[in-house]
Order: sequence, then C-alpha cells, then structure tokens
Amino acid sequence: MSRRLRIPPIPSSEITAESAYISRRAFMRSAALLATPLAAGVGSPLLAAEARSGMALRYADAAAGPAGFNTDEAQTPFEDVASYGNFYEFGTDKSDPARYAGQMTVDPWSVEVDGAVGKPGKLNLEDILAVFDLEERIYRLRCVEAWSMVVPWVGFPLGDLLQRFEPQSSARFVEFRTLYRREEMPGTRSFTSIIDWPYREGLRMDEAMHPLTLIAVGLYGRTLPNQNGAPLRLVVPWKYGFKSIKSIVKIRLLERQPATSWQSLAPREYGFYANVNPEVDHPRWSQRYERRLPSSLLRPNRVPTRMFNGYAEQVAGLYKGMDLSRLY
Ligand code: MTE
Repeated sequence: MSRRLRIPPIPSSEITAESAYISRRAFMRSAALLATPLAAGVGSPLLAAEARSGMALRYADAAAGPAGFNTDEAQTPFEDVASYGNFYEFGTDKSDPARYAGQMTVDPWSVEVDGAVGKPGKLNLEDILAVFDLEERIYRLRCVEAWSMVVPWVGFPLGDLLQRFEPQSSARFVEFRTLYRREEMPGTRSFTSIIDWPYREGLRMDEAMHPLTLIAVGLYGRTLPNQNGAPLRLVVPWKYGFKSIKSIVKIRLLERQPATSWQSLAPREYGFYANVNPEVDHPRWSQRYERRLPSSLLRPNRVPTRMFNGYAEQVAGLYKGMDLSRLY
C-alpha cells in the first residue's frame, strides 16, 4: 500500500447524485443479463457513467436480501467508486485503475475451481450468470489505508458457487487468484512493481461460506467496471479491502492456509485475517477513523471505524477465542 493517503482526484462538486439509479430498482429473481444498448457519448455525466459501467443487470432488490445485511448509510456516488481505488495490476496511483483497466479483456472469462473438491472444473461467466440468482447488497468497504465507501454491489454468495464443486471435508481454506496478463496490465510490467503476480488472497472455509461473503458481478445495477474487478470479484465486507480480490480466474480449496499477496510482502503490516479492527493499529497509522468517500481536504468526512466494519453481530462468532491483536 502506498505510504501517503491521497485525496480523490474528483472534487465532490463534480460528483453526480445517485438517486436516479436507486429509483430504478426492479425485483427480478432471474440472473439473465439485459443487453441494453447504452447511449455512449451523451453529454450527461450520469449517462456517460452508465456507458462505462456496461450492461444493466437483473437482480433482486436489496430489500429482498437477508435482513440486517444492507446498510442504509449514504451510498458513495458511482463516480467515486469507479474513479478512486486500488488495482495494482494497473498501477499504484488511485486513478490508475480507472485510467488503464479498460485494456483488460474480460470476454471470454472463466473461473477454474479445484483442490479439495469432489467435482473440480471450470465455469464460464455466462454459466455463472445463468445459474445464480443475483441480489443487491449494500455494504461498507473499508480499505486498510483508512478510506471507505458504501457500495450497492450486485452478486451472489460465494458459498453458493463453492457448493457446486462439492467441497471435501479436508478443505479448510480457499485461495483466490486474479488474472495475470502482462500485456494488458501496465502495473505488472512496472520495474517498481512489488507484488509477486498473480495477486492472491485467501479465506478460511467458514469465512468463505458465510452468507455475507459475496461474489460481485456488478455495482449500481450495472456490470462491474473493469477497474472495480470485472467481471467478478470477491467482497468480504468485514475485512480490509485488500481481501476483496478482483477479476478472479482461479479458486482452490486447500487443507493449509495459503500464502497471500500482501501478507507475503509485509507480514507485520498485513495479516491473513485482516478483520477491520479500530483497536489494532497498522504499524504506520491509526485504524480508529476512516475517510468516507467522497472526501476532500475541506470536507474530509472522517467517521469512526467500527469493529468488523460494523458486521460484528454477524461475524464476531467466527473468531471466538482468537487473539485478534496477534492474528490481525
Ligand atoms: N485485487 C487485485 N487483483 N489487485 C489489487 O491491487 N486491491 C485491493 C482489493 N482487490 C487489489 C484487489 C484493495 S487494497 C482494495 S481497498 C480493494 O480492492 C479496492 O476495491 P475498489 O477499487 O473496487 O474500491
């Protein structure tokens, strides 16, 4: 992670209200894609944003999702979610993903699942979208760098996907890998690149099967923008954002805890668990507060960080008896 916190590149005055998106929610249990032709190049920033974020998704409204999972806090405008982020494959600046991730080819796409499963195999994106019911989940996302967002994701529980491959009783961990395609990912070619590619993450099996753990295929009712991890990414809302690995191509069930990118790089700074915890500071900064996007120098929008990012009621039980200052 970079050493300095950066201010989002888009001043909040230029950010579009999202009420227009939110009012258009349709209740549909089908996971089919609606191939809506989009008006590219239209002057309105809202339409331009829609064009960049791809096709409309059919999904169940947040109100239909599990009670207590969705926050009613103000949602971070689409423009901020799509323009400020981390995707080191495209560079380390917060604006690099939006600038360069368009180079990534996301069609065709498939995800391979193997390891300790009864039925290893590959699913292509069309099959995934046809099989799983999509729902909207409005989650907080808290980066370890102390900025945060509220995002209306569209996706399905990771557990539903894993079940199809019949996890064996020996499976205790899950490893995820991101696409690694040097020619399309300038950050992986950079001589300053510090990550041993591909980007890797992992979860304990009970964390992976927890109903909060989501595979997102969209946000704000549209397919994921490339910079946010198209065509599918993990979202683990009670953990620091680096666990929410983007653009997944491989999932492996394991008996042992896998080595993950940030933990391998700086184990004193980034743990395997990475549960959001205001009591355990990062060695170089406090984790007590966060900047909720949109944030600017004049309006930093600083809010207190909550234990397990506000999801303690749902997940604290997973960590009973564990010393979270040691297993950070
Ligand atoms: N996944 C990959 N493959 N590469 C990355 O650099 N960055 C992580 C995570 N997933 C990252 C990644 C970090 S540090 C954060 S905070 C979130 O993505 C940011 O997600 P967003 O850009 O959609 O907000």
